[in-house]
Amino acid sequence: MIASSVRCAACVLAVAAVPLFAQSGDAAKGKAVVESNGCLRCHRIGENGSRTGPNLSEIGDKRSAEQLKTSITDPDAEVLPENRFVAVTLKDGSVVRGRILNHDAMSVQLIDGKQNLRSFLTADIRGYTILTKGLMPKPNLTDEQVADVVAYLSSLKGTEAP
Ligand code: HEC
Repeated sequence: MIASSVRCAACVLAVAAVPLFAQSGDAAKGKAVVESNGCLRCHRIGENGSRTGPNLSEIGDKRSAEQLKTSITDPDAEVLPENRFVAVTLKDGSVVRGRILNHDAMSVQLIDGKQNLRSFLTADIRGYTILTKGLMPKPNLTDEQVADVVAYLSSLKGTEAP
């Protein structure tokens, strides 16, 4: 707690700025932060990035600025059901880990760490574990960078015709 009281000279300003948070970021700067901080190693935005993590192309339609901020500053706080990962143990003992795409009584489909779509019949599975922690590393960003990233992600909306 000592550390937090030391930092609190700056906190006063930060706290005062909270209600303005959603408006205060710079989306263009946020785009640059996303592109230079490895976010696209896991996330897809438009035509770029990886499919191993959740697709962020239309994330501005789905989440509030506050939710986006928490996802970035505290990734383990809440992992939405559609973003869960699973570790599947097959009958031969091998384990496959990936983001769940679909899961029903007969089968499990996931995207593995190499972006491959994998499908397993429940009959071939010895067990599986749902993973909800430690899926996304906490990025090392300043408060200002976080605000910029939130502004950028909030601007990502499904604008294409249906
Ligand atoms: C090593 C892979 C990895 C990296 C790097 C990564 N993420 Fe993630 N991210 C994930 C995974 C997996 C999830 C889903 C689980 C969770 O919410 O923690 C996620 C969730 C999110 C969500 C919530 C998505 C939703 O549906 O609400 C946002 C927003 C997000 N990441 C933004 C970022 C940003 C911005 C960066 C770069 C600063 C980043 N991520 C870097 C893997 C990653």
